[in-house]
Amino acid sequence: MRFDNRLLDEIKARLSLSDIVGRRVSWDRRKTQPGRGDFWACCPFHQEKSPSFHVDDRRGRYKCFGCGASGDHFRFLTDTEGLSFPEAVERLAEQAGVVLPVADPKIARQERKKAGLAEVCEMAAQFFQMEFGGPRGQTARAYVQRRQLSAETLNEFRFGFAPDTRDSLKRYLAEKGVEEPVMVEAGLVIKPDDGRPSYDRFRGRLMIPIHDERGRVVAFGGRTLDPEGQPKYLNSPETPLFHKGVMLFNAHRAREPAFKSGQAFVVEGYLDAIALWQAGLRHVVATLGTAFTEDQVLRLWKLAAEPVVCFDGDAAGISAAHRAIDRILPVLRSGHSFQFCFLPDGQDPDDLIKARGIAGFHEEAAKAQPLFEAVWEREISAANLDTPERKAALEKRFEDLIGTIADERVRKRYQLDFRLRLSNLFYEHSRRQRSAAQGQGQRQGWGQGGDRGRGRPGDAAASLQLLTRGPGGEAITAPQGPLFGTERLVCGMCVKFPDLLDKHIERVASLPFADPLHAGFRNALCRVARDFNSLTAAQLAEGVDDSFYKILHEVMTADEGAAQKHGDFSGLYQRFPLLKATPPEDFIEAAFLHFLDQIELMALEQELKQELAAAEQAFDELAWNRIRGLTQDLSRRREECAREEGELAERAKKLRHAGPSMVPGHGNQAASSPH
Ligand code: UTP
Ligand code: MN
Repeated sequence: MRFDNRLLDEIKARLSLSDIVGRRVSWDRRKTQPGRGDFWACCPFHQEKSPSFHVDDRRGRYKCFGCGASGDHFRFLTDTEGLSFPEAVERLAEQAGVVLPVADPKIARQERKKAGLAEVCEMAAQFFQMEFGGPRGQTARAYVQRRQLSAETLNEFRFGFAPDTRDSLKRYLAEKGVEEPVMVEAGLVIKPDDGRPSYDRFRGRLMIPIHDERGRVVAFGGRTLDPEGQPKYLNSPETPLFHKGVMLFNAHRAREPAFKSGQAFVVEGYLDAIALWQAGLRHVVATLGTAFTEDQVLRLWKLAAEPVVCFDGDAAGISAAHRAIDRILPVLRSGHSFQFCFLPDGQDPDDLIKARGIAGFHEEAAKAQPLFEAVWEREISAANLDTPERKAALEKRFEDLIGTIADERVRKRYQLDFRLRLSNLFYEHSRRQRSAAQGQGQRQGWGQGGDRGRGRPGDAAASLQLLTRGPGGEAITAPQGPLFGTERLVCGMCVKFPDLLDKHIERVASLPFADPLHAGFRNALCRVARDFNSLTAAQLAEGVDDSFYKILHEVMTADEGAAQKHGDFSGLYQRFPLLKATPPEDFIEAAFLHFLDQIELMALEQELKQELAAAEQAFDELAWNRIRGLTQDLSRRREECAREEGELAERAKKLRHAGPSMVPGHGNQAASSPH
């Protein structure tokens, strides 16, 4: 529905934004000046300790100077409560006493009809609840007791019972004046085509009402109480109120807790969601046994940026997750993703909680893998890399899959990651084949789980000119240059932020790295970034040596012992902890450019040193001019670098105060001097 701007302005004029926002935040008393319509609070959109969230009552706008969130009355409701825009308008119009004109009589009729159907569903819910408590509900009550559902849960979810009779509900509704066609349209009564009398859809079942996002009952799931009964769950059919592919069970309850915690869990079954709710986990929704749809994906992202999909660890659950991936990729966008968690031993969340409590569930949920990892595993698990054709086929599958991502930035990010990872896989694979042919051990590549075999002395020594060898025959890098840490950090940031690499590729390409390993790594990366469309992963794998993957591995993961998770970037975070809190992009870019400056500055200093040393031998006018030029250039750049550093440190300090996930002890190094 489209709303007239005048009408929206009218609503905004009647309600002060500070009232609406004030229900969710507490104003900072020192900074706030209500008389001027000037309100400050800690931002409800990100974690912070000092108030940088501002409401300007006169303009009817809010803005957070920390995270950049901004908007008006409606936006505040859509973003804090997950309402749709029309829902937000409806809600506020009601509060403001503004009557919304119904533009289209057809829509008005539909809305009235839906309201009527919702009323009928509500009557049915009451009927089922009444039956549940009555003499006929005995088996249903015994069943829920066996499933250890508490009275509070039964009440909250409005459990009911549909008696095993032909038309009890139909007669109940008829008595209340509901016409038969309406009962049929609400999905509660079935009218056979052959003219026989209509009858109740749900008979002899435990009834669980399904609510829409506004909290109205719009459908039912009915579980059989007979162990042999088929189907196990009978759901309402599609009705004007109920669209299975859009619906998320429990969404109206989960919305607020999800917003507050920034998290959401998605499970497969009604009773899984209910069991989690009963165990105290409130930000949980269930898909209704259907495959994920795009609509559901978008709704889930309204609940949280990275919902955790928690499916049974059996074949069915895994295949459901795989189907979900195909629905997610096309709509994937920056800042939004999913995590996947497969429960062990064929358990569903309900079984797991019964066996190990909510703590057990959290333990498993903590093992959730990023979407990227789930895609990787899905494609790799069955892949055969024996021939170039098969490698090419695998690469093509990834390309096609990633090609479905509509968002260009995310697509590029995924392409780069997969390309690097795939080339590593090919590289390791051919290496393993080579060493198997020589009867030697295997070596662990970057980003792969599984075998953790180590290289032996002499292993592929020829290609390792750039590596020095430690006492154990272990390949180690000997850090070169005083800015080793900064250089490594720049390498890591180029991988983590391909956009930055893209934007500053000229400068990066000629960056005077002191460490030859870094220079080699940079060259390979720039080649990938430049020849993105023509270079295959296999070609990339051929063009680089061990040192490339060594560094890649090092920037991606902190230490060899830690579980390797792609996209983990713990090595990078160790050098630059602030990145973990996803600081604003312009901060990341400023820091990146500062690191480039530092490296260039260091190279200039080395150059000056060499010039000075040379001048000791032979001093002439030319040398003098060069030295003077260098000195001037250097002092100017030193000054600039110091100023930058000061500014960055200042910003970093603010960000650290704002962000919840800072690593203590890495304090000031964050912006200035990585180690
Ligand atoms: P499950 O069979 O895993 O159900 O189906 P469950 O939640 O573990 O059920 P209990 O514990 O045996 O009671 C998962 C979901 O798939 C849908 C339902 O939404 C169910 O919650 N489903 C399942 C159906 O719609 N129809 C069916 O026949 C079976
Ligand atoms: Mn179950």
